[in-house]
Amino acid sequence: MRLDKYLSNFSGLSRKEARQVIKAGDVLVNGVMLTDPTCSIADDAQVKWSGLQIAPAGPRYFMLNKPVGYVCANSDSHNPTVFELLDEDALEDLQVAGRLDIDTTGLVLITDDGQWNHRVTSPKTQKSKCYDVQLAEPVTADAVPLFAEGILLRSEKKRTRPAQLDIVAPTQVKLTIHEGKYHQVKRMFAAIGNQVVALHRESIADIVLDANLAPGEYRPLTAAEIASIDNV
Ligand code: URA
Repeated sequence: MRLDKYLSNFSGLSRKEARQVIKAGDVLVNGVMLTDPTCSIADDAQVKWSGLQIAPAGPRYFMLNKPVGYVCANSDSHNPTVFELLDEDALEDLQVAGRLDIDTTGLVLITDDGQWNHRVTSPKTQKSKCYDVQLAEPVTADAVPLFAEGILLRSEKKRTRPAQLDIVAPTQVKLTIHEGKYHQVKRMFAAIGNQVVALHRESIADIVLDANLAPGEYRPLTAAEIASIDNV
């Protein structure tokens, strides 16, 4: 990449300002002063401007507390998208790692690291997802082994993977699943003759929705949260 382009892309300087500081001798590439803004530099070159290291920003990772009414899509002609809640550059590079339905709330992971996204969502890695579920009808203890054995969803040939059902109150449960089929939680309860009236995702693997995030708020993931995806 051209030196002036590299510097303006990753420093916040305009292209004109970048050319000026390069010509003034303020820029070192691999420890050597370069004063020609048009010279080409390697992708892994070490660039310093007035002693400051200038480097492409690393991958980005966020958790969002998704409110009702937002879709997990990069664009949508009818509904607001979760990306409209983010005050970030280059939104088009970001992707949701595990979608939620428009009426589901809670933890949504968003990143521009495609490989990390794959490790979160790939059926092979079987990351757990824990939901708080409000139901139309009371659920009884005999549902627990049904979920543990796996539920046969309508129009599927194989049962779901074993899921853990914890009854909190007659019409409130926590459900932990290890896959992400379309409308999975709603279909699991439909298969036992019940209906989900509210669904909230609390965690994905070891990443738990931050209780300080109000609906619609988001924050970067910590380094430990990012790394935890590879530990579980
Ligand atoms: N299961 C559903 O039915 N909906 C979601 O949004 C997530 C899991």
